[in-house]
Amino acid sequence: MIKNTSATANSAETDGAKSSRNKVRKAVLPAAGLGTRFLPATKAQPKEMLTVVDKPQIQYVVEECVTSGIEHIIIVTGKGKNSIEDHFDSAPALERFLEEKGKKDQAEMVRKISNMVQVSYTRQKEPLGLGHAVLVARDLVGDEPFAVLLGDVLIPGPNPATKQLINVYESTGVGAIAVEEVPKEKTHLYGIVDGEPAPQPPFGERLLRIRELVEKPKPESAPSNLAITGRYVLPSAIFDCLERTKPGAENEIQLTDALRILAREQGLWAYIYDGVSYDAGHKLGFLKATVELALENLEFGAAFRSYLKTLKL
Ligand code: UTP
Repeated sequence: MIKNTSATANSAETDGAKSSRNKVRKAVLPAAGLGTRFLPATKAQPKEMLTVVDKPQIQYVVEECVTSGIEHIIIVTGKGKNSIEDHFDSAPALERFLEEKGKKDQAEMVRKISNMVQVSYTRQKEPLGLGHAVLVARDLVGDEPFAVLLGDVLIPGPNPATKQLINVYESTGVGAIAVEEVPKEKTHLYGIVDGEPAPQPPFGERLLRIRELVEKPKPESAPSNLAITGRYVLPSAIFDCLERTKPGAENEIQLTDALRILAREQGLWAYIYDGVSYDAGHKLGFLKATVELALENLEFGAAFRSYLKTLKL
């Protein structure tokens, strides 16, 4: 059962200690996968660096962290992923070149990418699964709660899913994972949550206590149509759960298997976040993200919409 460790302590001092212990400052972005669903584009470049409209996917994810108040991002990279590090590094020669050409706005934009947040890198030597990638970040995270954001899932918008999960964690002291409704006939494509409604202010009906997590169930046996979305806020206890997780599907260490242990031992919330996600890690999802985000673009969204209307579909 989920233990509510929210601020009900007797003294203000205990309250303070508790809330600082619950503060979520770090995020892990696993980006070491091979991106095989996106071949041949990902033969020599990371899928997290593929551009959606005007910036690489992983920049959207880093920006979500920054808007959510994250202070330190740990990106898990692997072979062939150096361009991710280059993207968030400073680029003095490029900045100087742009300044000299009088392109101050562009120079500022380039500078902002490397200054927006502290980023550390660690390498997953082999892509042994999402769970394994998170475990690789253990030392850099230490003994504190942290967020996990998949580097190829975009959830743009002013109210980031990660911030919503942080609010849940910081007020309850219990881990939370983002879920969203999917069509019942598509449950076999997702990790699906079996959750018991556990409404409480200010989260209301969006909060569910996780009973079980089911990997890709057929529609007729799915316990719900709530799919795991690629955003998590977890206590450091997840690392011990990952240590105890044996390789599962595709011989990989699955994060979902470790979450199941965490849910059983310490409780775990599913939170129906407010927002829209794009799984840009495969071709169709990437195209949908590109079209929808291009339509919202302030600079050329209107022109793009007019262009789409001219297509004979
Ligand atoms: P995916 O399963 O979408 O990525 O994992 P993948 O393995 O690269 O994709 P395919 O199936 O071969 O096309 C979600 C995120 O987790 C990272 C990926 O880089 C991606 O951002 N990941 C996955 C790791 O960091 N390590 C792994 O071993 C697996």
